[in-house]
Amino acid sequence: MATCSAPGKIYLFGEHAVVHGEPAVACAVELRTRVTVLPAKSTSVISNGKPLGFGGGPYIENTLKIMEKFLVLPPLSIRIDSEIPIAAGIGSSAALTVALLRALSIEFGVKMDLSMIAATAHRVERVVQGAASPTDTFVSTMGGVVVVPERRHLSPLGCKIVIGEAERGVGEKTREMVSRVAELRETYPDVVDPIFNAIGRLTRNGVRLIEDDDCKGIGRLMNINDGLLEALGVGTTMLSRLVHAARDAGAFGAKITGAGGGGCIVALTDDPQEVARGIEDAGGRAIVVEIAREGVREE
Ligand code: PMV
Repeated sequence: MATCSAPGKIYLFGEHAVVHGEPAVACAVELRTRVTVLPAKSTSVISNGKPLGFGGGPYIENTLKIMEKFLVLPPLSIRIDSEIPIAAGIGSSAALTVALLRALSIEFGVKMDLSMIAATAHRVERVVQGAASPTDTFVSTMGGVVVVPERRHLSPLGCKIVIGEAERGVGEKTREMVSRVAELRETYPDVVDPIFNAIGRLTRNGVRLIEDDDCKGIGRLMNINDGLLEALGVGTTMLSRLVHAARDAGAFGAKITGAGGGGCIVALTDDPQEVARGIEDAGGRAIVVEIAREGVREE
């Protein structure tokens, strides 16, 4: 039997613009998906106490298919316990895939180093989603605060992170939001390219501020980033409400995280309880999280 866990992630800066060649900063957060695998008489998948039919869904099916290139797998009992909100832009599918791959490689003695786990998990996400940036799977595998595309680690922030969940179901929307932004760019390249460019610039400035642990400065740039995401058309009424509630409660800054169109916001603060209260009063679900310094690990 092997049990592994992998963390979810938020974007501090740069989502959407990263698809168009600009840098982004993502951060692994201490919300984990734990996966236990053990050989059994027949294959079954139990997720947060409930049995999953259809081979456990596309991420599990495709992960098993890829592992079958290395060995013949016996029937398996797979147990998933996840703290990550599903399909909310916090990287639940990446964490599941990464933790499952690691657990399988340990259980069956397949040598896979962390870069291979990240690359293989990215392949699974591409098969399932059609297109996926390597960010989620890389950050979930390696942990910490990471600038992409360089995949360089930055020092962890001193302040606290509060996630505000507005609506679920955004996971299925990532593709739609990415293509909506691409369509906007095709229609108005002279308007939209400077927005991507500004996001790239604020991300580069943000990297310097993260290195200086200047949470006030990082928060100001997150606010600008949120305005630019709004300009790209990925905001919703509820996301805006939560962003403003977090700022009104004293956050250094708050923004949409991930694809938008629903999902979550992220806020930086020294007073997480106050910001969480503000988010909850505005109708969201607040989750106070630590940065996950460690990525995938055996439990
Ligand atoms: O909502 P998420 O966590 O899937 O993030 C999407 C981030 C985008 O930049 C919009 C797309 C991508 O693949 O980088």
